[in-house]
Amino acid sequence: MSESTSAQDQETIQEYIAKRISALETENKNLADELETTKVEREEVRAKLFESLITNKKYMREVERLKKENAILRRMPLFLATVVEMGEDYVLLRQHGNNQEFITTAPPELMPKLEPNTRVAINNSLTIVRILDRCVDARAKAMELIEAPEVSYADIGGLEKQIQEVRETVELPLTQPEIFQGVGIEPPRGVLLYGLPGTGKTLLAKAVAHESMATFIHMSGSELVHKFIGEGAQLVRDIFQMARDKTPAIIFIDEIDAVGSIRTHDGTTGSAEVNRTMMQLLAEMDGFRTRGDIKIIAATNRIDILDPALLRPGRFDRIIEIPLPSLEGRMKILNIHAGKVNMAPDVDLDKIAKETEEASGADLKSIVVEAGMNAIRRGATTVSGDDFKMAINKVLGDEEEKKATEGCARMFS
Ligand SMILES: Nc1ncnc2c1ncn2[C@@H]1O[C@H](COP(=O)(O)OP(=O)(O)OP(=O)(O)O)[C@@H](O)[C@H]1O
Ligand SMILES: [Mg+2]
Repeated sequence: MSESTSAQDQETIQEYIAKRISALETENKNLADELETTKVEREEVRAKLFESLITNKKYMREVERLKKENAILRRMPLFLATVVEMGEDYVLLRQHGNNQEFITTAPPELMPKLEPNTRVAINNSLTIVRILDRCVDARAKAMELIEAPEVSYADIGGLEKQIQEVRETVELPLTQPEIFQGVGIEPPRGVLLYGLPGTGKTLLAKAVAHESMATFIHMSGSELVHKFIGEGAQLVRDIFQMARDKTPAIIFIDEIDAVGSIRTHDGTTGSAEVNRTMMQLLAEMDGFRTRGDIKIIAATNRIDILDPALLRPGRFDRIIEIPLPSLEGRMKILNIHAGKVNMAPDVDLDKIAKETEEASGADLKSIVVEAGMNAIRRGATTVSGDDFKMAINKVLGDEEEKKATEGCARMFS
């Protein structure tokens, strides 16, 4: 009985082992198959990687080539242009110099930085290469910009009537434009100051800017035509643009006679240039009437040679003469400049004022400074009457000589 049982058991065990072996064999085969598939897949990935490496190398070479090309393009002379308008994928530019307008594109990294009036450098194929900083632009050097000059009416001696007139025409429309709207008249847009050198024209213009809390933009007519040859008209446009950006603003055009003298038609490039600058100035002056917050103050020593177009009613609302100071004016000017000077008791400013007829405000200032220098030379700490006497001789004596030489120069010219 026990023998047959153990034979049966043995059979069952063998059967079990046989089944197990067969199961393991199947599993083994499956795993071998899987391994094979993975191997194939790995080969495929390897092939793809290899392909990518080749493509990558090709792209790298292309990048290098483009970089070099870009560097060459940047080295080529670039031109200046200003953005006029822009959309999602285009930029409308105006080229300086020839004023041509054209539509172009910019590299994607520059696009968000562009806005109307941005200055850019463009290459031969009119593509924007870089953005120019406004501040470093050489054109900006043609004008001096002072946010609020430090000069007040109290620094001006005499000229009460002239200050009053300038206040009415320039300061009032800037500080209280509603008065003009109320009455229903157009606010004045500017004044022309004329008078001998050193009489305080620039000083007065700065004081008005200070008192009206306006930006003071100083441009010099002679620099415009002599230093920035060929760019005068563009500069005038830029200066008015600058004023529009910085309102309220006062544009002070010093030596307006350099651009605004009677137009010559001798056909030379110089006169054509001056005429173009002048035409631009007239156009800008006519164009901004609607804006109350920009005012023009122009100054000249030579009103006699100014173009009648500038003097025509409607261009400057007032033409104001800035005369040499009267006796009373000279006293005030001397007091202003000698205010902080340590003076010996023998100095009589009233007497000095009487002795300095024909002296301008600038001369009187020079006299005070010169007298101070004389005291320093003597090693003294107070300025004496004699120091002043020598200073008057030096400053006004020179003046006489200067006038004589100027007269001669005019005779021979
Ligand atoms: N009326 C004045 N009161 C006080 N200082 C004056 C006066 N006039 C002139 N000055 C002094 O003389 C300096 C030169 O004057 P300013 O530059 O205003 O003359 P200007 O009339 O503009 O001369 P130019 O025609 O040569 O440009 C002033 O900075 C100021 O110190
Ligand atoms: Mg001046």
